[in-house]
Amino acid sequence: MLKKLAAVVGLLLVCVSAWALTDKQYGEVESRIQAAGKVCLQGDSSCGSASAASGGAPKSGEDVYKASCQGCHAVGAGGAPKFGDAADWKARTAKGMDKVYSNAINGFSNIGMMPAKGLCMSCSDDEVMAAVDYIVDHSK
Ligand code: HEC
Repeated sequence: MLKKLAAVVGLLLVCVSAWALTDKQYGEVESRIQAAGKVCLQGDSSCGSASAASGGAPKSGEDVYKASCQGCHAVGAGGAPKFGDAADWKARTAKGMDKVYSNAINGFSNIGMMPAKGLCMSCSDDEVMAAVDYIVDHSK
């Protein structure tokens, strides 16, 4: 009886050690399950381009546009006024730039869904306005 038990325990131990991962395997698994995008907190110097809010130089309108706006505005996704389309933008700017800026900063939904700041939550209001200027200037 005791012998049988020892054999079972021994077998179990063999199984468990076979299941355990080597350091190398563990490292590989860890790199596979790593978060795809690392969280970047304001003021963290490891975050690449710092925003104006964290004391760095503000991003240019072109940079903000390319990073946060062109996904929708380059193709006019969901009714977004298209980059470079003078008629699209004339219809928007006719109501006055103040309203256009605040719509871009706060978001609005009329025919489609313009998310607040184009979802660039690390962008300052000034950076969003610079992006609007960049789009409007290139859509005349
Ligand atoms: C998820 C898609 C999407 C993204 C990303 C996006 N937009 Fe928009 N945007 C829209 C849509 C859709 C509209 C039209 C909404 C409507 O008229 O109902 C719009 C409208 C606008 C307008 C017109 C405002 C007005 O008063 O008519 C401006 C300006 C604008 N976006 C700027 C930006 C800027 C700047 C960014 C990047 C920081 C950005 N958008 C990112 C979808 C997007």
